[in-house]
Amino acid sequence: MRVLVIGGGGREHALVWKMHHSPRVSRIYCAPGNPGMDGLAQLVALRPEDIPGLVRFAQDEIVDLTVVGPELPLSLGIVDAFEAAGLRIFGPQRQAAQLEASKAFTRELLRSQGVASPAFHSCTDPDEARRYAADVGPPLVVKADGLAAGKGVLICPTLEEADAAVERIMRERAFGAAGERVVIEEFLEGEEVSFLALSDGTSVLPLASSQDHKRVFDADRGPNTGGMGAYSPAPVITPQLSEQIVDEILYPTLQGLRQRGIVYKGVLYAGLMMTRDGPKVLEFNIRFGDPECQPLMLRLKSDLVEVMEAVIDERLVEVSLVWDARPAVCVVLASDGYPGGYEKGLPISGLDTLRDWSDGVVFHAGTAKQGDRFVTNGGRVLGVTGCGCDFQAALATTYGAVERISWPGMHYRRDIGRRALQERPS
Ligand code: AMP
Ligand code: GLY
Repeated sequence: MRVLVIGGGGREHALVWKMHHSPRVSRIYCAPGNPGMDGLAQLVALRPEDIPGLVRFAQDEIVDLTVVGPELPLSLGIVDAFEAAGLRIFGPQRQAAQLEASKAFTRELLRSQGVASPAFHSCTDPDEARRYAADVGPPLVVKADGLAAGKGVLICPTLEEADAAVERIMRERAFGAAGERVVIEEFLEGEEVSFLALSDGTSVLPLASSQDHKRVFDADRGPNTGGMGAYSPAPVITPQLSEQIVDEILYPTLQGLRQRGIVYKGVLYAGLMMTRDGPKVLEFNIRFGDPECQPLMLRLKSDLVEVMEAVIDERLVEVSLVWDARPAVCVVLASDGYPGGYEKGLPISGLDTLRDWSDGVVFHAGTAKQGDRFVTNGGRVLGVTGCGCDFQAALATTYGAVERISWPGMHYRRDIGRRALQERPS
């Protein structure tokens, strides 16, 4: 079959790499993809937001299955458009995509379902927002309601900071229209975990557990990023906890959606805070996490295409997933300055020495090709992803590979997966 993957980051490289192993796949396209996919996928010069262009492409090339990586095309209704054209596509429809695209929608839904969440207030009036902040007191988290490329969340230890956050989001419109509405939340303390599952609208099938590292510097210091690394499995997610999350968070969420006439199909990704009172929902994402997807794809043994088809055809109950027992780790190599501004076009050295790396794959995210040389072309440039018989071995091979790669100003976290070494499942 012919498959189209939409997106161009490390997550999409991992999806393409995994689908390439499916005996059912004869051809893979990726729009826009990245040059690291060379030999696996044919790159298509279409933006993920160009929905009419992508529909036309899928029709012209007789694509059998399309898989959407990022949230923006999903929130713009790419799934609805493909389905209307009679094309098969993996991901939630526009209405269901509100779960990520509107924080207020999600908070209201979770409240109505009694799903454990922080106390919150949502409004469109900055004065009302500031009054609520003053009433409940800091620390608070102030969020732009809409999509803001992961940047619209401001942690505010003081009331002054909360007031300034409301100003930035609502009056200065630092995140554009995403800030028409604001959500102010109680600040939750604890360890953060990513919980990814598949849903076909009725059933839920958890993926192997994984853990992201959001802050830019070691020991979780510095500003939030898209994710500086990930590992799987995450020992903090015990089988009992997984069951609790599925029963008390994911199923009630799906039920709340169904009550609103929404059938959720695709990846359901809950960002959770493990508080003293148990897991609480920080956010939902409607797609694979990046970089969580990279170690997950390295570990998944089942045929991803078959699993995705089961989601589309609403027969997920028939599926069970097989995972490599060995842990996997992804270390993101980033440009100097990321998550702030950074230079592009710097030559990357060492990649050729890893072409035959037997324990992992270097997934590309922000790279470009100049002649026959790879150069940097984004904030998160590469996701070095390796596995080993235990975490120690996975970390050794992955960091060993990292040390072979360099460009001026390259930086990465040196403590990815360290927590997994400390937390043993009971
Ligand atoms: P979000 O996009 O809503 O997940 O927010 C991005 C990040 O902000 C999360 O991954 C958390 O690290 C942090 N965050 C969001 N909401 C809260 C909250 N209520 N309490 C503490 N931290 C939060
Ligand atoms: N790694 C976090 C995300 O994909 O949103």
